[in-house]
Amino acid sequence: MNATTTYTARAHTNIALIKYWGKKDEKLILPMNSSLSLTLDRFYTETSVMFDEQLKDDLFLLDGSKEKNDKISNFLEIVRQKANITAKAKIISKNHVPSTAGLASSASAYAALALAASKAAGLNLDKKELSRLARRGSGSACRSIYGGLVEWQEGIDDQTSFAHPIEMSRDFDIAMIALVISTDFKKISSRAGMKRVVETSPYYPAWVQNTAKDLRKLKQAISKNDFETFGEVSEENAMKMHALNMSAHPHFNYLEPDSIKAMKIVEKLRSQGVSCYYTLDAGPNVKVICRRKDIQAIVDRLSDSFGQEKVLVAGPGPAAHLI
Ligand code: ADP
Ligand code: DP6
Ligand code: CO
Repeated sequence: MNATTTYTARAHTNIALIKYWGKKDEKLILPMNSSLSLTLDRFYTETSVMFDEQLKDDLFLLDGSKEKNDKISNFLEIVRQKANITAKAKIISKNHVPSTAGLASSASAYAALALAASKAAGLNLDKKELSRLARRGSGSACRSIYGGLVEWQEGIDDQTSFAHPIEMSRDFDIAMIALVISTDFKKISSRAGMKRVVETSPYYPAWVQNTAKDLRKLKQAISKNDFETFGEVSEENAMKMHALNMSAHPHFNYLEPDSIKAMKIVEKLRSQGVSCYYTLDAGPNVKVICRRKDIQAIVDRLSDSFGQEKVLVAGPGPAAHLI
C-alpha cells in the first residue's frame, strides 16, 4: 500500500446527563457504570486521516499546529492492527469547540478520528464497531458516534461496551445553553480525575450504585416526556460527580466562583417558574438544560451577568459522518 485516500469525518460533542466517571478497565476503557448523553449541534471536530508508507511517524496537526500526542498514535495502533497495515498516518484536526475546557473535546475528537481513520485504513466498520473503537480513544467518544440522546452501556468486556441511541419522542423538546466561564487548560484531565476518585473516594461504591438508579429514572422520564424529572435527575447526577471529586485524596474541584454564580442564577430562574437545570463536566463551564421556548429568557439572564459572547446555545446534534 502506498498513500491511501484521505477521509474526513465530522463528529459532534456530547454532554453527559448521567456521567461516566471511573473505569473498571483502564486499558480497554470499560466504565464502572453506564451513562447517557445528548449530542450537540453547536460543537464539533473535523478530522482528516491519510495513511502513507512514506511517513516515518504519525503526524498530527491540531488547529494548524503540529502536536506531539502519544494518545493518538496508541489509538492509531489499534486501527492498524485491525486493518493489518503498518503505514503511519497524517492526521489534520480542527476543533469547533474550545479544547480542554470541559466541553468534551475528547468525545468529538475520538469519534471523528475513529470514523476517518478506520475508513482510511480500508475498514468498513458498522456503528457498533465504530462506537467500540472510539471508546478506546476516549470513553465519552463512543457516544458521539450517534446523534441525539445516547446511552453507553457499560458492558463487561471490549465486545459488550458500546453506545446506542435512545428513542426520544418527536415532541421531546430540549436545548442546552453552554456558559463558557473559562477555556484555560484544566488542571486535572478527565482521565486523571476519575482515576483518583476511583482509587481514593470513600463514596465511590455509593456513586456506582446510585448512578444505576439515576439512569433508570432518566430513561423513564424520557419515555414519559417528563422534562422536569429529566432535568432534576441530570442536575443531581452531576452534583454527585462533583461531590466525589471533593471527597478524593488529594481532593480537587473543577468549579470556579463564576460556576457557582451561574448555578444560583439557574436555581433562581427555576424558582420563578422557568424550567431549567444545570450540569457540569470536568471543567468550570456550566451547561443549562432547558426547553426551546425558554432559551431567550435564560440567555438574557446569563448575558446580563457574564456577557453575551460567553453564552452559546445548542440543540440536539447529528451522528458522526463523513464529509
Ligand atoms: P475534554 O473535557 O475537553 O474532553 P479531556 O481531558 O477529556 O477534556 O480531553 C482533552 C484532550 O483531548 C486533549 O488533551 C487532547 O489530547 C485531546 N483532544 C482534543 N481535541 C482533539 C482533537 N481534535 N484530536 C485529537 N485529540 C484531541
Ligand atoms: C465528566 O471520556 O474524557 O465528561 O475515557 O479517560 O478519555 P477518558 O475520559 P473522558 O471522560 C468524560 C467525563 C465526563 C462525563 C461524561 O462525559 O460522561
Ligand atoms: Co473528555
